[in-house]
Amino acid sequence: MKYGFCLNSGGAIMKAAQINEYGTDVVAINRNVNTPEIALGKVLVKVHAAGVNPFDWKVREGYVSATSKFSFPMTLGGDFAGTVIDVGQGVTLYRKGDHVYGSGNILSGGSGAFAELVSADEKLTARKPEKASYLEAAALPLTGVSALDVLYNKMELQEGQKVLIHGGSGGIGSMAIPIAKHMGAYVATTAKKDKKQYLKGLGADEVIDYKDELFEEKLKDYDAVFDTVGGETYNRSFKVLRKGGIIVSMLEQPDQELMARYQVKAVGQSTRINTHSLRKLAELFDSGVVTVSVDRIFPLEEAGQALEYQRNGSLKGKIVIEVD
Ligand SMILES: NC(=O)c1ccc[n+]([C@@H]2O[C@H](COP(=O)([O-])OP(=O)(O)OC[C@H]3O[C@@H](n4cnc5c(N)ncnc54)[C@H](OP(=O)(O)O)[C@@H]3O)[C@@H](O)[C@H]2O)c1
Repeated sequence: MKYGFCLNSGGAIMKAAQINEYGTDVVAINRNVNTPEIALGKVLVKVHAAGVNPFDWKVREGYVSATSKFSFPMTLGGDFAGTVIDVGQGVTLYRKGDHVYGSGNILSGGSGAFAELVSADEKLTARKPEKASYLEAAALPLTGVSALDVLYNKMELQEGQKVLIHGGSGGIGSMAIPIAKHMGAYVATTAKKDKKQYLKGLGADEVIDYKDELFEEKLKDYDAVFDTVGGETYNRSFKVLRKGGIIVSMLEQPDQELMARYQVKAVGQSTRINTHSLRKLAELFDSGVVTVSVDRIFPLEEAGQALEYQRNGSLKGKIVIEVD
């Protein structure tokens, strides 16, 4: 029982949060799950903590079932932080005992992170930021890499430019604000009124209460909009951009009519976690640029409640599942 899961004569079993069907109240904690195989190019990691993202409850509810087919039972979860306990053939970056973080999502060839052990592609992992606890490191991958990729690669944000970040108190927003400030931008953000102090603390120059104020009446000639909300918020955002500005959305595909009308560029983001981005994120964490606000910690047994809590919103930062 060195690692907390049981080694039986016929192999090893572990505990995992799984679904047998899509729905809202379907997460089961199974205690007799076979441990993942140690496959080519994969690392087997003892999970200390797993980060929760909106994507996880969307998978639970079958949002991706039309595009990707999975067999049940399916272990949920992607983001993780933990210790390497074995490596598959071809793995060059890690050895047993290394402290890593990354993505073990089923959709990206992993075995699911809401479990005692996860198998993940070594290309979707990196060494954990040295100064981060496991809980903090587990909160970083999807949201942190999304923020980095959008601000550096899609927007190529420059010092002195103005960016509007929607949903500043959410997982992506709360990491994008300090990164954009670090890049020298002026940052406006939208959130509920009670998050104002929190967001000022993250470095936001201007906080707009999205319930009572219209951001498009307060902001103009912005260089960039980072949309983490979609829908009407996305459509209205075109009005705040200068000609030649850019909007990147985590949820919406480019609207050609709005692009032409406002003469701006629109990009639909699809985040791909990789070692390079995770290393950059770790550097930014260790140098104090990126911090993690953990709103609430759940034990693995309450993975279903964690997903509901994430789904109901009004968070400050991230939710994390403590596995060990
Ligand atoms: N395309 C991709 O590759 C990709 C990758 C990662 C995430 N995503 C998606 O991106 C979205 C954001 O992810 P996340 O992890 O940041 O989610 P999150 O932690 O739930 O954050 C969303 C934030 O938006 C705020 N919000 C809700 N309605 C708003 C409005 N009308 N105006 C301004 N803010 C509003 C919420 O605040 P309140 O709860 O206080 O209202 C919350 O803080 C999710 O839908 C996720 O699935 C896409």
